[in-house]
Amino acid sequence: MGFAIVLFLIAGFWLIRFLPEETASNAKKTDANEDPNRIENGIHVRTGLIDDEGLMTVVANCTACHSAQLVTQNRMNEERWNATIRWMQETQNLWDLGDNQEIIVNYLVRNYPPTEKGRRENLKNIEWYDLDPE
Ligand code: HEC
Repeated sequence: MGFAIVLFLIAGFWLIRFLPEETASNAKKTDANEDPNRIENGIHVRTGLIDDEGLMTVVANCTACHSAQLVTQNRMNEERWNATIRWMQETQNLWDLGDNQEIIVNYLVRNYPPTEKGRRENLKNIEWYDLDPE
């Protein structure tokens, strides 16, 4: 019987962790023993990285020397992410990532791919005119 109560309490506390915050002010509250890997709205709050498979591998390997912002503000394809990693390994003492490299690069390509944002659309229906040099 005692065992059942303990089990009930453990399950209860475990479930409470997954309940949504009650109020907005509650969610904003910060205190010292807050979870350093808290996720809010799909973002790892401490680093600003997107929450996705491989997140903690990226946090562990890619935020030691520079801020994660250097990662999140760059958008590259697989080849260029690998090249950036190779460049850091050759010039910045980045360690061999082993099997983690694939996890990290997959995470990066999924969440920080090249973007076309900022490029204007091709112009259409242009009326060309002849320059008339004097
Ligand atoms: C051993 C230290 C170290 C680690 C660990 C590290 N980097 Fe870097 N990284 C650097 C340095 C140094 C620079 C250059 C910083 C600067 O230009 O101010 C840099 C620059 C960058 C840049 C900018 C490159 C450019 O062309 O401007 C990106 C993107 C980047 N790192 C991503 C990563 C990723 C992803 C990881 C995890 C695999 C990582 N870094 C881990 C040292 C490191």
